[in-house]
Amino acid sequence: MTRVLVLQGPNLNLLGTREPEIYGHETLDQLHAALRLHAAELGLEADTFQSNHEGALIDRLHERDFDVAIVNAAGLTHTSVALRDALLAIKRPFIEVHLSDPATREPFRHVNFLVDIALLSIVGQGPRGYHLALEEIAERFRGHRG
Ligand code: DQA
Repeated sequence: MTRVLVLQGPNLNLLGTREPEIYGHETLDQLHAALRLHAAELGLEADTFQSNHEGALIDRLHERDFDVAIVNAAGLTHTSVALRDALLAIKRPFIEVHLSDPATREPFRHVNFLVDIALLSIVGQGPRGYHLALEEIAERFRGHRG
């Protein structure tokens, strides 16, 4: 079964109450529960991890106990060479997801350290973006690892 890691960066633990006009009302727990259910329906195994700490996110990636990741690096998307290096080092494909579309927001969000190494980038779709990423993975990794 294809193992998917959903990796969530800083401040995403506050989903539901954090700038809901941008990020919506669904909490991270609700999102993760829905993703686990959807993953099971698609024949995927999903694990979820959120941290506000760059090093903790990198350590989680280094565990390499997954086949493909869905990554919302949040603010680190626009700053972190170290997270980019980790994603390259572990040699696991990943889909980048953002709830909002950073390219239409403040100029500092237009810098993106991950987009050119991602399989695909899904932005501006709210929580639906993560579900689309799961569907994409189910499609692309069909039969992977048996
Ligand atoms: C975000 C967009 C980032 O610019 C921001 O720093 C976030 C959330 C998104 O999902 O839209 O924390 O990654």
